[in-house]
Amino acid sequence: MLNITVEKTKTPKQIPEKGAALGFGKIFTDHMFMMNYTEGKGWHDARIVPYQNLSLDPSSMVFHYGQEMFEGMKAYKTDDGKTCLFRPDMNAKRTNNTNKRLCIPELPEEDFVEAVKAIVKVDEAWIPTDPGTSLYIRPFIIATDEFLGVAPSKTYLFIIILSPSGAYYASGLNPVGIWIEDEFVRAVRGGMGFTKTGGNYACSLAAQVKAHDAGYSQVLWLDGVERKYIEEVGAMNIFFKIDGKIVTPMLNGSILPGVTRDSVIHLCKSWGMDVEERKISVDELIEAQNTGKLEEIFGTGTAAVISPVGKLRYKDDVMVIGDGGIGPVSQKIYDTVTGIQLGKIADPFGWRVVID
Ligand code: COI
Repeated sequence: MLNITVEKTKTPKQIPEKGAALGFGKIFTDHMFMMNYTEGKGWHDARIVPYQNLSLDPSSMVFHYGQEMFEGMKAYKTDDGKTCLFRPDMNAKRTNNTNKRLCIPELPEEDFVEAVKAIVKVDEAWIPTDPGTSLYIRPFIIATDEFLGVAPSKTYLFIIILSPSGAYYASGLNPVGIWIEDEFVRAVRGGMGFTKTGGNYACSLAAQVKAHDAGYSQVLWLDGVERKYIEEVGAMNIFFKIDGKIVTPMLNGSILPGVTRDSVIHLCKSWGMDVEERKISVDELIEAQNTGKLEEIFGTGTAAVISPVGKLRYKDDVMVIGDGGIGPVSQKIYDTVTGIQLGKIADPFGWRVVID
């Protein structure tokens, strides 16, 4: 159990009004959670303080060698006024999997969840309730030793900030166009593709700029060795409906184990659908498209929720998926995932966690 001190802001900000255009990750609440780690002492000084700038020495290790991790979660208000999280234990576990890979000290899972609940409770008035909105939660850890040698830091800061947000893609639930990247790669097995760390996103930017310039929203990565097998979209995992079956790349160490990915697999299986987690080559996709078997594509992610893909580009080929609109399975999954998150439908898996 954490002993969290709370210092409330004396200058509260204006909470966005109902109907306000929030965008994604642009507005931040009144408070933040902070906790330090010091070698020999462990995690200490858990506190909620007014949202504020950080003061860090320019030599702090995070700025130089990228020893940092982050998570993405959301809080929702149900119609009966309860504040809920979605599977926070999964984020706590993933935090430690990331931490182990990056030599960041592990955090007790219950402390992670307690910290998230505590900061969300303090700023729960900021949870937006318009359709498609939520309070995006960004926990992160940075290495703070003042040192330019390459080694694991001995001190860290764990911080949680909150952002009332709308859809991750400006298009909302409308299908996005995806660019299959054939020049750059995101991750290789043995690397850190399965972790949530800034480096995975920094290395995605050059391809993302290329894709944006060509009119596509996101990049679909191929494996880093053969450049043949589908991996993930960076901000989302990817699913295909091919000839009636749901197919998604298996977790192989270079793909992020998404919480929404896992939830979609559970849901589809519970509906009796065939779900295959396996290698999928880009050639198989093209073949499925050419034979009319590629029925739907959608991405899954905490920020992106369920994001239908209407168009896929690979080298000189542009494939329009189905009729380019939202497929029925994508729509059903979106309705079910968000229905469970918002407490509008039953939660047979016990994924919704109420903050008392
Ligand atoms: C999330 O879905 O929460 C993420 O962290 C992805 C990020 C690129 C927005």
